[in-house]
Amino acid sequence: MKSYARLVCWVVALIIIPGQALVLADKDPEQLMLPTGTMTLSAPPDAEREPALSPVVFPHSLHFAYSCKDCHHEWDGYSEVQSCATSGCHENLWAAPPGTTPLGEKRIKSLAGAYHQTCRDCHREEMKSQKAAGMTRFYTGPIDCDGCHPEPHAEPVHDIEMLPVPTGNLTIAPPEEVDARRAAVEFPHGAHFDYSCQLCHHDWYGEGEVEGCMTEGCHDQFEPDPSTRNIKDPANVYYYLAAYHNTCLPCHRELQQERNAFMDAGITDAEELPAAGPVACIECH
Ligand code: HEC
Ligand code: HEC
Ligand code: HEC
Ligand code: HEC
Ligand code: HEC
Ligand code: HEC
Repeated sequence: MKSYARLVCWVVALIIIPGQALVLADKDPEQLMLPTGTMTLSAPPDAEREPALSPVVFPHSLHFAYSCKDCHHEWDGYSEVQSCATSGCHENLWAAPPGTTPLGEKRIKSLAGAYHQTCRDCHREEMKSQKAAGMTRFYTGPIDCDGCHPEPHAEPVHDIEMLPVPTGNLTIAPPEEVDARRAAVEFPHGAHFDYSCQLCHHDWYGEGEVEGCMTEGCHDQFEPDPSTRNIKDPANVYYYLAAYHNTCLPCHRELQQERNAFMDAGITDAEELPAAGPVACIECH
């Protein structure tokens, strides 16, 4: 059952303005097309130098345990995701030679520099922290040059499937069987992409469809267990209300506490206060 009323679809709208050209709007502004699977990263074709090493095979989906914004650091969760080499971003393959950037102008990291710092440094940090935690098998990516740039050159891989992801408000309503006591909840999905998708979609591993929370066999019970109404009790994990309240509320409460601590310290500027989600019943319902 679809638990939110709005139809999420790939809208192809034809707008004909009298006397003008045909305008084809083929994008739903409230939907993002997420490439899942594996892609190959290579130097831009017009790079100032011929690439010396092999392009880099990158399993995008293996990285969705992180926040999208760990890599797409300029993304707001709603707009289109820009490619790293976009003009004004990491547009040069290599850093500009010293002395060529006018004083006071922002020095932008090169594409190779940005990739090496983002990719390799995280793989190294993961290795370190897993070692420190006493693990003997490491879940991390390549650290050595030839792990990413193999010799002989690896074949480029483009094994991508596009997954439509809603970025706007989702209306979360109780199952039909429930006589709702409260108004349905308007949930701004994209405002939550600072977190890993898997924090909420805990059974999704980066590929394939994302199942709704109340899918059969998941949180599909519409009444608490007869033994207890306590939503923290493990007997109630399949109770949809418990799943939602136990996921949404503790995070918002913790954020509210952080925010209160800032305010207690005399910080009131909205820009400086940490973001916080609603905690009062009426703010969600
Ligand atoms: C570990 C880093 C990393 C993480 C985490 C990550 N991505 Fe990416 N993503 C990339 C890289 C690298 C590319 C290729 C960019 C390019 O071609 O310049 C990419 C490409 C994309 C593109 C295609 C952009 C284009 O140029 O058309 C989209 C959309 C995207 N990612 C969305 C997401 C979303 C949403 C998430 C969170 C679920 C996410 N990514 C998580 C690194 C990452
Ligand atoms: C924030 C941390 C982080 C960042 C950033 C990151 N990775 Fe990873 N990467 C990982 C982890 C952790 C794994 C292991 C995932 C697993 O095994 O489930 C991994 C796995 C991989 C693998 C697969 C290794 C294998 O054995 O199959 C490749 C290839 C890889 N990363 C390349 C990249 C590239 C290229 C980038 C930059 C565009 C990048 N990674 C950015 C953490 C990161
Ligand atoms: C975690 C993956 C990763 C590791 C490890 C890594 N690189 Fe890269 N490197 C990249 C990515 C991604 C790019 C940008 C895409 C491209 O140019 O192929 C890149 C680009 C480059 C480039 C510019 C393009 C070219 O082919 O000339 C060079 C040179 C390079 N890397 C050298 C190295 C060397 C030397 C090492 C080891 C000290 C290394 N890299 C380790 C991911 C990695
Ligand atoms: C804070 C929790 C949360 C986070 C984080 C989150 N989502 Fe969701 N997402 C939801 C909820 C709740 C729904 C509505 C589920 C339902 O209808 O049962 C949803 C719906 C979806 C749907 C539509 C599923 C359907 O039923 O068609 C997709 C696709 C999706 N999310 C992907 C993602 C991706 C990709 C990310 C990471 C960029 C992400 N979500 C992050 C909570 C979250
Ligand atoms: C891991 C933390 C986390 C979880 C889990 C979470 N939220 Fe949030 N929520 C946030 C943050 C942070 C914001 C503020 C975002 C911002 O201001 O950009 C927010 C904002 C909101 C807002 C208000 C947006 C606005 O316009 O002011 C609503 C409504 C909301 N969340 C509902 C939910 C619901 C419903 C769930 C469960 C399905 C949920 N949240 C789960 C962190 C979380
Ligand atoms: C962060 C958002 C959020 C807050 C705050 C919140 N809820 Fe909910 N609540 C939900 C979501 C999501 C659902 C599942 C969708 C639905 O049933 O409307 C839900 C479901 C319910 C339901 C079952 C459905 C119904 O309408 O009968 C009740 C009752 C309920 N909440 C009461 C409360 C009460 C009382 C409070 C305050 C103590 C509260 N909620 C605070 C998000 C929230």
